[in-house]
Amino acid sequence: MFDQLKDLILAMYPGEHTIALHRPLFSQDEESAVAACIRSSYVSSIGPDIEKFEQHIAEFCSSGYAISTVNGTAALHLSLHAIGVSHNDIVLTQSLSFAATGHAILQTGAKPVYIDITMPQGSMCPEALLRFLSEECRRQDDICTHKISGRRIAACVPMHSFGEPAKISQIEAICREWSIPLIEDAAEALGSFIDGKHCGTFGLCGVLSFNGNKIMTTGAGGIILCKNEALAKRLKHLSTTAKIPDPFEFRHSETGFNYRLPNLNASLGIAQFRKLPNFLNSKRAIHRQYQTFFQRFGYELVNSPEAESNHWLNTVIMNSPDEKESLLKFLKAYDIQARPAWYPLHRQTHLQSVSEHPLPETEWLYSRAVSLPSSVPLSV
Ligand SMILES: Cc1ncc(COP(=O)(O)O)c(C=O)c1O
Repeated sequence: MFDQLKDLILAMYPGEHTIALHRPLFSQDEESAVAACIRSSYVSSIGPDIEKFEQHIAEFCSSGYAISTVNGTAALHLSLHAIGVSHNDIVLTQSLSFAATGHAILQTGAKPVYIDITMPQGSMCPEALLRFLSEECRRQDDICTHKISGRRIAACVPMHSFGEPAKISQIEAICREWSIPLIEDAAEALGSFIDGKHCGTFGLCGVLSFNGNKIMTTGAGGIILCKNEALAKRLKHLSTTAKIPDPFEFRHSETGFNYRLPNLNASLGIAQFRKLPNFLNSKRAIHRQYQTFFQRFGYELVNSPEAESNHWLNTVIMNSPDEKESLLKFLKAYDIQARPAWYPLHRQTHLQSVSEHPLPETEWLYSRAVSLPSSVPLSV
């Protein structure tokens, strides 16, 4: 199978010397947009492209509001901070995620507890969430507390793994029942929908990333999707150094953050956004090719069967840890970038969980998953 897979990937990305896991795709459009921004001199944290970019994303995601940030990690941290997550709190999330999810939690002073994932989505399992809450937590006066540590469960942050939508409706219902604010890490999921609703719009806030390896990029950047006007205003205020509007004086209402997306990055984002429908079509076509290929050989991809996914990163599940290692080495020898899933967060000392319950599905997927080249081809 390895040789045929190599041939498939080479055919999908003709003329590329090293085949990247996920590289950006630019044309004259982006160069012109960024050059125009430079000529305007509005390259920093103020400028017309910021609002325009935020409007495009808010409309595309039907989120009501969109608050842009320097990156997705800052967007996650800011969302948690703005809803009051703080020292001595617990935030529920999944161990199978990029470290940014865990780091944003630690940055607030809270500690993570990891909920196991479910397959084939590879994202937080609603049944495991409910089991943890029923067995280890108590509810009183709309506050959910972890019985052993006495800490408040201050938020739940599921992640839409590899762009494949999580079982977010079920997770949202459980969070509502237990009075836990839901913040979605939808960093990888721009263009992914469930029942016509965009990932990141099911909870209080949802976060997208526009890093260079995402489906579209602003160089570096992120955005917070938010339906609540008061919260959206607070997020903008906090991201903008918490400065009180005044024509002359520099007064700030509280400790703020300089998390603003520069206008220069927003100008790149606007040019990329115009191509998003084409990028999505192309990525769905790539996914179909992988799917057809792996079906022939009896392998499954991480996927979200009833959802409309952006298929950001096609991730195949190998039969054993040894086979995973062999595939990674085989593709590397042909200059084809592939990678394992993120090293589970619960195994990393600084990210250790407050609760010790086992995470068998997380361990299982980590030991078998290989993410494959998934860029939009140069010909698009
Ligand atoms: C799941 C997840 N969360 C958060 C982030 C953080 O985004 P950024 O790199 O823009 O800080 C990323 C991506 O990089 C991610 O994949």
